[in-house]
Amino acid sequence: MTDGYTDLRWRFDDADRIGRITLDRPDSLNALSPGLREELVDGFERFRELDADPGRPRVDAIVLDGAGDRAFSVGADVNAGERTPPGVKRIRPEYTLPAELPMPVVAAIDGYCLGGGLELALACDFRVATPDSELGFPESRLGILPANGGLQRLAAHAGPSRAKELAMSGARVDAGTAAADGFVDHVRDADAFDGFLDDFLGRIGAGAPLAVRAAKDVVNEGLGTDLETAIAYEHRASRALRGTRDYEEGTSAFGTDREPEWQGR
Ligand code: COA
Repeated sequence: MTDGYTDLRWRFDDADRIGRITLDRPDSLNALSPGLREELVDGFERFRELDADPGRPRVDAIVLDGAGDRAFSVGADVNAGERTPPGVKRIRPEYTLPAELPMPVVAAIDGYCLGGGLELALACDFRVATPDSELGFPESRLGILPANGGLQRLAAHAGPSRAKELAMSGARVDAGTAAADGFVDHVRDADAFDGFLDDFLGRIGAGAPLAVRAAKDVVNEGLGTDLETAIAYEHRASRALRGTRDYEEGTSAFGTDREPEWQGR
């Protein structure tokens, strides 16, 4: 299945069950124009609908990347006069959907990943980047701040003082530094990148689909609450999984030393 978008490429392959979204405005380094934001929200929602359709294969994971070889995204389109209107308190949906979607979402970063582009990548479950990619929050140099969860998410990964340093300075760091800071998960050279990404998707998709999704949900829920509540949530999720067909399949496959055949229920 392919798209009908202008600034986005949207693909789903029934064979590998991986959804792919490419931010496609390479001439402006995939800056997030109002049109692109709208299409991005629609693209994420289409994957949710597709996944929920019992007549279609489930969507095992989504990969988000940027067109061209220069950028994932440089954030808000400064030429579109992009500013959050006064009085708008809600986080834009494109920054909440990657976390809300049930399946893992991976940001594949090759080049600049700045401002809203970094906020978007941080909203995903994983970030894989080429070594020369440059990541940062330049907003303070424009007199503003990231405002869609990016700074909080950066603090959760890199720690509060490092997040403050990056936001205050507006500095760009390479992918290796971002990995050492904890907000990039894997760094791979461009020529090994696609192969690594396929392996990585295979690895995170190795478990039973409901268990994979519960892992995402449990960790995300836990980050927003106290430890006791989080552990109770984790316990409930684990108990619910014990009632699934795939729990029977997983234990039976383990017992008979064969590969499990997951049904996702
Ligand atoms: N919005 C819209 N267009 C952008 C953009 C943005 N945020 N960032 C870059 N572009 C466009 C440039 O205008 C240029 O277009 P042109 O070729 O029509 O002139 C093109 O992308 C290439 O950018 P350029 O600045 O020429 O490339 P560079 O290699 O010299 O610098 C950056 C790259 C990313 C360092 C620089 O473009 C930059 O700092 N961009 C702003 C990033 C930013 O502040 N984002 C947060 C906004 S809140």
